[in-house]
Amino acid sequence: MDLSEELRARVARVEGGIERLLPGAGEPSPRLHTAMRYAMQGGGKRLRPVMVLSAARLFREHPRADALAAAVAVECVHAYSLVHDDLPCMDNDDLRRGRPTAHRAFDEATALLAGDALLTLAFEILADSYRGDPALASALTLELARAAGSRRLIGGQMEDLLAERTGAPGPLGLEYIHLSKTAAMIEASLVMGGLCGGAPEEALVRLRSGGRELGLAFQIVDDILDATSDTQTLGKTAGKDARAGKATYVSVHGIEAARRLARERSDSAVELLSSLPGDGGFLAALAQNMLGRVR
Ligand code: IPE
Ligand code: IPE
Ligand code: MG
Ligand code: MG
Ligand code: MG
Repeated sequence: MDLSEELRARVARVEGGIERLLPGAGEPSPRLHTAMRYAMQGGGKRLRPVMVLSAARLFREHPRADALAAAVAVECVHAYSLVHDDLPCMDNDDLRRGRPTAHRAFDEATALLAGDALLTLAFEILADSYRGDPALASALTLELARAAGSRRLIGGQMEDLLAERTGAPGPLGLEYIHLSKTAAMIEASLVMGGLCGGAPEEALVRLRSGGRELGLAFQIVDDILDATSDTQTLGKTAGKDARAGKATYVSVHGIEAARRLARERSDSAVELLSSLPGDGGFLAALAQNMLGRVR
């Protein structure tokens, strides 16, 4: 199978898992469950859950556990973070994945609650799906909680918003924001996949480093695309970062330097991921494919 065929197969597997593990739209409260499904469905590249599945396949012929539930849990946290990121009090966006944002399709309170519920559901899915291997359930929970918590994703979101008012941070402050709000979840995806696959400790370290480089490159590319692409292609409003006075790699370093920094981080991610056993080539190719959008 070539990369795009394999990618399609893994995305389809993730979407099947989402369909199965999310509460039915008709369950009480139907409005809430419909909004949760809306936020999780209707597109998305599914980069993080595909990374979970792909990292899990690297280490053993028979993995420690099926990584699908962990992949869905990661996507629940990602989708919640986007629903809240789009709210009027945050980035105030009307368009996501080519459709109205959750608070536009429903209302602000429903979007807020759907986000809360997706975040909580992620941990319910982990505790429930891996109950047969309590050590694994605990390791997955810790990894996801750390990535999504105040020291990583939420801390990065806080500093991202503060920078709109206080002006651009220095390069190190900017790197903190990108590593926290975006790289944390990409790192966690690879490590959680590794944990399900039964990866040895040194491989987990390599997955974490690869995820950090890839995650940083990914957010730099997101910044570049916001400045250079169009709303139709992105499925979200282009040119918003400059209008909102966001601290981005483009505003702080300029477009050419941002392109160079994205390439450097992406090359380093590809090098780290290709050195993994087995399916490492798929992960490296996936990283290249995701980042190739600005080459
Ligand atoms: C958007 O993430 C938010 C960032 C961290 C840049 P993605 O670009 O992965 O969004 P979807 O899931 O494909 O919509
Ligand atoms: C989003 O960063 C990071 C998180 C949602 C945690 P952005 O605000 O740049 O993402 P987009 O551009 O709205 O997708
Ligand atoms: Mg944001
Ligand atoms: Mg945003
Ligand atoms: Mg962005």
